[in-house]
Amino acid sequence: MRKLSSSLLLSILLAVTSKLVKKVEAEPNPHYVALLNDSMWFYEAQRSGHLPSTNRVSWRGDSGLEDGNDNKVDLVGGYYDAGDYLKFTLPLSHSIVLMAWGGIEWFDGYQKANQVNYLRDTIRWGTDWLIKAHPSDNELYVQVGNGDVDNNYWGPDTNIPTPRPSYKITADAPGTDVAALTAAAFAASSYLFRNQLNDTNYADTLQSHAESLYKFAETATPMQLYTESVSASKEYYEATAYSNQLVFGALWLYRATGNTEYRDKASNYFDQFKLSSTPITVMDWSDQTGAVYVLGTELDGSNTKYKDAAKKYLDAIALGKNGPCSFTSGGLLWCGDESDVNSLVPVQNTALLALLYDKITSGTDYTDFATGQIKYVLGDNRMLTPYVCGVHMNSPHNPHHAGASGGSDINNIETSPPEEKYLLYGAIVGGPDKDDKFYDERNDWAQTEVALDYNAPFLGLIARQLSVDTTEDPPYVSITEPRPHVSRSTGLEKWLIAVIVIVIVFVLAGLLYLCWCKRRAIASWRASRKAVAV
Ligand SMILES: *[C@@H]1O[C@H](CO)[C@@H](O)[C@H](O)[C@H]1NC(C)=O
Ligand SMILES: *[C@@H]1O[C@H](CO)[C@@H](O)[C@H](O)[C@H]1NC(C)=O
Repeated sequence: MRKLSSSLLLSILLAVTSKLVKKVEAEPNPHYVALLNDSMWFYEAQRSGHLPSTNRVSWRGDSGLEDGNDNKVDLVGGYYDAGDYLKFTLPLSHSIVLMAWGGIEWFDGYQKANQVNYLRDTIRWGTDWLIKAHPSDNELYVQVGNGDVDNNYWGPDTNIPTPRPSYKITADAPGTDVAALTAAAFAASSYLFRNQLNDTNYADTLQSHAESLYKFAETATPMQLYTESVSASKEYYEATAYSNQLVFGALWLYRATGNTEYRDKASNYFDQFKLSSTPITVMDWSDQTGAVYVLGTELDGSNTKYKDAAKKYLDAIALGKNGPCSFTSGGLLWCGDESDVNSLVPVQNTALLALLYDKITSGTDYTDFATGQIKYVLGDNRMLTPYVCGVHMNSPHNPHHAGASGGSDINNIETSPPEEKYLLYGAIVGGPDKDDKFYDERNDWAQTEVALDYNAPFLGLIARQLSVDTTEDPPYVSITEPRPHVSRSTGLEKWLIAVIVIVIVFVLAGLLYLCWCKRRAIASWRASRKAVAV
């Protein structure tokens, strides 16, 4: 009897504990859940147009309600690009591709975090607008608002300056890069809506825009950068080539449609434009070459040229083998001029490609690199700072964002008001400098700017973390010290200053010595001048 009851007790205990353990295992890490949630909250803060009742950003209202009127089209909606009120198609499309790609690969991360609805809303707010921006086959709007007008304004969404002209590419004034990249955005989100979000109707709509735009990109002549047609975008978003976007668009269309013609087009353009031997460049809105290598590895595996190129690319950048990048003393990937502004953009984009590649090839060649970079972004750095707004006391407090700042004086962006009025949850800021230093100054846009394309890879990185590991906290969780104070370097290295001082002292001493030696000559010269004067 005793024996029976104790073994019963034991089995009940075992059942309870195993249930508890299971529950613990299934529970996603709350900090990563919050990061995913917040990073999409940031996109809500960027919304233009009529905001829905579900809008979570209290200080944002309807705006840009006349966009497109100048061309008698409806361009209301979409996203503001950065801390300003301009809308650009190229970086938006780039961002949508990265968000959709991360959503496709690590959808279970969104599911675990209960964020699937936000993923859908975030992408759809962009693609609904892209549909409006593509009112007919050979017409794509690429910009709304004028940089000269908009960049003279700093303030809330209630006084956005006008006029807000809209700019488009057409058959007579084409833009191969933006048409192909927007086709990629349509195709990638079509795949996501069809296969992960189970919305066949919307997926069909997106697919038909993707096919039509890709045809426009391929057939309009001459093939050229869109900024040749729309000079208003030139200073803001000029791509470096259109070849990689042509391949990228075709690969995404192959994935979305299953039509092998697109796979073959991609392969042909890849060869025609010699993409396997172009110089290694960092992937960003201006250049998707690195993303082409990884996506080609995923979709056209028997065509080993993609995988070879992807490996060479990641070895060069992530492992520093004869590549264009190095690492700061704090361990941050540093890619020359590319990193001088918005240093965390190359970091996140390369980390995303690295993790995608490892997932696709079931390898781990670049995982340590990528997870190390993500840890740096999330607080494992000399500033003890997670470069994500609103998640920790050391998070950036002064993102370069007009609406969030609460200020309205363009001549005093930094000081009026001294502290940001609204927390811009989830926004990734530009990032630290080469010495791993960060000053958190609103006017220092190289460090504190926020933008659609800075957050896009972050979504995928966090979704992956939730997909693969539910236990480890992000580094900032254990940081209790305030961010250390650092002062700006003068631009001159200390040793250089020392050398200059020593040289000056020697020159002065030398001159004095010379005068001493020649004192007689000088005295007689002065005497002779006096004599002449008399
Ligand atoms: C997501 O963010 C919103 C707004 O800050 C907040 O109300 C909500 O609780 C958050 N959800 C999660 C799961 O963190
Ligand atoms: C779509 O269907 C799949 C398979 O049935 C399911 O796992 C997934 O959760 C569904 N997606 C949504 C958004 O309901």
